[in-house]
Amino acid sequence: MGEPQNRRDFLLTLGTGAGIAALGYQGAASLRSLVPNVSYDAPTTVKVGLPAEFPDGLKFLPDQRLFIFREGTVFHAISAVCTHLGCTVRAEALSNPEARTVDGKALRLTHRFLCPCHGSKYTGDGGNVSGPAPRPLAWYHLSLASDDGQLVVDLANEVGHDFRLTTA
Ligand code: FES
Repeated sequence: MGEPQNRRDFLLTLGTGAGIAALGYQGAASLRSLVPNVSYDAPTTVKVGLPAEFPDGLKFLPDQRLFIFREGTVFHAISAVCTHLGCTVRAEALSNPEARTVDGKALRLTHRFLCPCHGSKYTGDGGNVSGPAPRPLAWYHLSLASDDGQLVVDLANEVGHDFRLTTA
């Protein structure tokens, strides 16, 4: 008589334990679903070097697909990504650089930009003048890093064509 009782107790204990384990697992899964997965997006700001490392005129940064312009202590950055389908534009030096006022600020146009894919052409300030490109090239915000003084480009922060960073 005692043995079936023990067996019943054993099965009851086993079933109860399995039930508790299943509830615990489900509870943990429910709690985990409340915590969103962390997204490790690439940073949008990038250090591109000390101002002194940039020559007067234009420097192309292939990794960022970006042109940095320097005129003395004044800097600005223009995207090299064609606004048509995203090819990288190339800069062509103008034989006669042109002094212009762009959005109320002086700008010396030393280059124009040409897209090798479908022939879009841009002025030296990035304005689209011919070809299928629907918009001007983007200008990005530039600043100086507080820790080491490098130029910092914020690729998520488009600015107007009157933007300039003046360094000391
Ligand atoms: S991608 Fe530049 S013109 Fe088409």
